[in-house]
Amino acid sequence: MEQYLEILKSAAIEASKRAYAPYSKFPVGAALSLDGSDQSGEPILGCNVENISFAMTICAERNALAHSVSQKIAPKSLKHLAIYMPGNTLYSPCGACRQFIAELMAPEAQIYAFCDEENYKQWGIPDLLPDGFETDTI
Ligand code: THU
Repeated sequence: MEQYLEILKSAAIEASKRAYAPYSKFPVGAALSLDGSDQSGEPILGCNVENISFAMTICAERNALAHSVSQKIAPKSLKHLAIYMPGNTLYSPCGACRQFIAELMAPEAQIYAFCDEENYKQWGIPDLLPDGFETDTI
């Protein structure tokens, strides 16, 4: 695995340690970078934040993407997103997160999922959200 991806995976693992997941006990971490070859900035981190009113839970991916906006990262400029989830099964981002990824990440962005097994999964945005909602009328 390339070094930038190792760095991003480690950052996602660190982010998962910050999760607030008392209900699911499934701490997820996300790490975003502008460009794999230019690791000049620190990855932007996110973790899942649950709430006793369950429907309001924020996933790690959306947390990281919201954080990128507050850090003044231009929409459509983020090229890499690593997600870490504990256990030996690789899951993919939920539907709400896919919509956020499609809107805020670069069209050519790559999304990687890691768990405690060595293998990982990788997707482009069209894999995660084919024919996604986009309009210039609003
Ligand atoms: N979760 C994420 O943070 N990201 C995902 O890609 C899938 C699910 C969170 C939401 C909830 O806090 C917990 O994992 C269990 O669904």
